[in-house]
Amino acid sequence: MFKKLGLSIVLFASTLFASNTVNVYSSRHYDTDKELFKKFEQNTGIEVKVIQAKDDALIKRLETEGANSPADVFITVDAARIQRATQKDLFLPIKSQILEEKIPSSLRDEQNRWFSITKRARIFAIKKGSGLENKEFTYEELADPKYKGQIMVRSSSNVYNQSLMAGMIAHHGVEYATSWAKGVAANMARSPKGSDRDQARAVAAGFGNIAIINTYYVGKLAVGSDSDKETVSNLKVTFPKFKNGATHINVSAAGVAKYAKNKENAIKFIEFLVSNEAQEIFAQGNYEYPVISDAKISDLVASWGTLEDDNISIADLGKYNADAVKALDIAGWK
Ligand SMILES: [Fe+2]
Repeated sequence: MFKKLGLSIVLFASTLFASNTVNVYSSRHYDTDKELFKKFEQNTGIEVKVIQAKDDALIKRLETEGANSPADVFITVDAARIQRATQKDLFLPIKSQILEEKIPSSLRDEQNRWFSITKRARIFAIKKGSGLENKEFTYEELADPKYKGQIMVRSSSNVYNQSLMAGMIAHHGVEYATSWAKGVAANMARSPKGSDRDQARAVAAGFGNIAIINTYYVGKLAVGSDSDKETVSNLKVTFPKFKNGATHINVSAAGVAKYAKNKENAIKFIEFLVSNEAQEIFAQGNYEYPVISDAKISDLVASWGTLEDDNISIADLGKYNADAVKALDIAGWK
């Protein structure tokens, strides 16, 4: 009798105090994510608590908090940041058959510390009427002097450019990549400034003919202000390729935080992010590419053509980040 009562008290206490939550640190900042997190709460009854900040701030926070960190899941954007967080030992390797089966090995860590949840491609938005809009570009030829004054691209302090450069290094080595970046810098229409979207706006406004931009930003411009809609109507999306590869892709990725208190919920949460339901919300709402093959991409994104992923793994892009930063600096890409 007492034993039974004791057990009931323990059960009652564990129901009362077990936190049915998942604490998420995320550097993504899109409305689609809020919608997704609500869906997860409705599906599972697990409350999602989010702290949103930039990657580097969250990495610092996780390091400072150490074992006391409330974080269960860490979501980062960009290959280099994921690698940085991995090197700082901020993720817990996990076992999930769902994640291993659904996500191609080039899009996840070999020790299961992080998993890509969306893809984006770094492409060229070409000025219509420039005569270049139907050309099949390689990334390599951007360094050709015939494109002098035609390229609009943001600063090399931006991690998307660092990852593109890491891809160039992975394909051709540091020496080639450095001289390539020199050529690109010499072909810029102006000294780098502004965001990806600003490059597209500038090309549409007559600065140069080639804007380097991530795909989802073209989607965001297309549903933005009237002047941004006008910008998009003046541009054509083309998918450049590496000579011996295909189109440079980057990712958002999620991992279970090293000191997760709600590990099971964290795994469930990441598995949800790669469910068909969630993948289509990322794709339809934020113009990203799904990481699972059977989710549908948005009609707008589909209208640009077919994306063929480059053959360099996301982990390798992170591996070459330091080399890329150094080489971009030497090349004079501001
Ligand atoms: Fe972005």
